[in-house]
This record gives sequence, structure tokens and C-alpha cells, in this order.
Amino acid sequence: MTRILGIETSCDETALAVVEDGQHLLANIVASQVDLHAQYGGVFPEVAARAHIETISAVATQALEAAGVTLADLDAIAVTQGPGLVGSLLVGLNFAKGLALGTGLPLLGINHLEGHIYSLWVDAPRPIAFPVVGLIVSGGHTELILMQNHGHYEHLGGTIDDAAGEAFDKVGRLLGLPYPGGPSIQKAAEAGDPMADDFPRALPGEENYDFSFSGLKTAVMRAVRPSQKGRKIQAGEESLKEGALRAGLSIPDVAASFQLAVVDVLVRKSIRAAQAYGAREILLAGGVSANRLLRERLAEEAPMPVRYPPLALCTDNAAMIAAAAFYRFQAGQRDDLTLDVHPSWPLSRLVPMLK
Ligand code: KG4
Ligand code: ZN
Repeated sequence: MTRILGIETSCDETALAVVEDGQHLLANIVASQVDLHAQYGGVFPEVAARAHIETISAVATQALEAAGVTLADLDAIAVTQGPGLVGSLLVGLNFAKGLALGTGLPLLGINHLEGHIYSLWVDAPRPIAFPVVGLIVSGGHTELILMQNHGHYEHLGGTIDDAAGEAFDKVGRLLGLPYPGGPSIQKAAEAGDPMADDFPRALPGEENYDFSFSGLKTAVMRAVRPSQKGRKIQAGEESLKEGALRAGLSIPDVAASFQLAVVDVLVRKSIRAAQAYGAREILLAGGVSANRLLRERLAEEAPMPVRYPPLALCTDNAAMIAAAAFYRFQAGQRDDLTLDVHPSWPLSRLVPMLK
């Protein structure tokens, strides 16, 4: 039996978890900073790093207690090394190094995106059969990958501009909805008509598996602020006061139409990739995989089984980091105290697992 403590601080969640054999979840504690950042309408990096420093020890104690283990019962310490915010990553990494040094336990640096994929292995109801196509949709990433085995990733496509979650967050801000935009838009959309606005579905080049969401964001902008028609949005300009919105605008209708436009594209491209590469399953992961419409539509329309994580494991957590680390631990990965953060670290540049 292999018990791994996972540590995740790449963005605005201070998360620690204990996972056994890459699948049995013993504890999963997430201290969210969402309330801290809501006032800025997005994650404020400096504030995030400081908040991690303040909470990480307490969250670690809580995770070990909830798992009913002590440090002596662990086999390894796994920590998110990137991609993410430098200051935030450093807090988790240094905490992990301190623990590894103090306990003599092996240290493993884990890629955050690989972690998201491995959220599907945590308490999986049945074994996952390779090859699989994975769609990772989060606040910072939109990636379609082919996975032939543990730790082997072939990049099939990704976003050429905004990530899917980023689009939700920006449109949420445009509509004056609370941060983060994803859950707010899903909620507002429940009362809306998804056919009310025919927003563009960007499929740049039917032949590839790339995504683009910035045109959609601009279309929403023009719909809600007709006086700005024809003008391109400048960076950092998405935040609008509610008073600037079009009179008589139905926020639920815009939210529902926007959500459907994003989901349509994600579903179509994932299924096409899964068919083209003979995937036996589609794995949906990352914060946006919490989206109910996305889960339902993908599961309904795909001819192969679709898996998505339980809600608690969609957004950032450390259980996924500990689960990914299990396979790397098995394959012999051991890092030393010179381990450094990788603020940008695409899956395709990951060292494949050897076994
Ligand atoms: O994976 P995650 O926690 O952080 C990153 O690694 O980026 O993803 C956060 C993103 C945010 O953009 C948030 O708006 C989005 O996930 N999200 C959702 C939903 N819940 C969270 N997007 C759409 N629908 C949801 N229900
Ligand atoms: Zn994430």
C-alpha cells in the first residue's frame, strides 16, 4: 500500500489530500480564497501567495487528521510544480520540501494538468481503459489530449486565445455576475433561453482540434452593450458596471446562450477527436467539467463512455495531485530539494513515465 500526501497551491486554493494507491481518497481539504479575490473580480497573485502562507500548515494538519494518519504513515510527498502562479506555487513547493527534509520522505513534483486528468482515477467506479481522449477545461487551460498509457500525453489541440473557464469568468464579469463566472453563469442560465441569442461557434479549421473563445466573448460584449458595436474589446476592459448594460437585456438568456455556445464547441471537438483516435473513453476534467450542461451533453452525444470527476474534484484540489503522483512513484520518479517551480509547463513537455 502506498500513501501519498498531495499539496496543491498553484492558484487560489490551498489544498492538501491523502490518497492511497492512487485511488482511495482518505482526505481532501481545500481552503478556498474565492471570497478574498471576489472584490478584485479575479485572482490577485500577491494576495493569493500570502493567503497560502497563512493557511497551509493548518490545512496540512487538518488533512492528516481527517485521513486518520500521521506523517510516519506516509510513503511520499507530492506537490504541484506548475503550471500556475509563481508566488503561489513556491509556497506549496517550499512547504513540501520542508516536510520531505524533516521526514526523509521522497518528494515528487507534479504537473497540475496531469493532476486534473488523474482526478478521474480517484475512487473510480471501474478501471479506465486506454487509449482515452482527455478534455482539460479550467480557468487557465483548454487542452484536448490523447493518452495511450499512464503519463503519456499527445497534444491534439487547445485554445488559441482564452481558456474555456477564462471565457466564463470574463463573460460573468461583463454581465455583472459574482466571481467566479462559471458557476454564476450556470446558475443564471437555468432561468434563460439558450436559443435567445445565436452566438458564434468558433471552429477554427475543422481539420484541427483547437478552440477559440475570444470571438464569442466579443459577440457577448456587443450584445450587451450595443453602443459599442463594431469596436474591439481592449484587454482588461471586460469589467463593466451593470448600468452600462443594454436596457431590457435578459441576463439569464445571454448566460444560457453563451453557455450553450461554449458547450457545443467543446462537445463536438472532443467527440470528433475521440472517434479519430479510437479512444475507448473520454475523460473530462478541470474546473469547467463541473458544468452540468457540458457533462450532460457530452455523455449524451458521445458514442463511447464519458467520465467526469465528482464535483469536489473538478476544481483545484490535492487529491488529483496525489493520485497522479502514485503512478510516477511506481515508475521510479524521485525529486530532490533542487526541485523548482515551472510556471508554464505544457503536458507535452512532461517527462513520460517509463513503466
Ligand atoms: O481547475 P480550476 O479550479 O482552476 C484552474 O486550474 O484554472 O478551474 C477554475 C475555472 C474557473 O474559470 C471557473 O469559472 C470554472 O472553472 N468553473 C466553471 C464551473 N465551475 C467552475 N465553469 C463553468 N461551469 C461551472 N459550473
Ligand atoms: Zn486547475
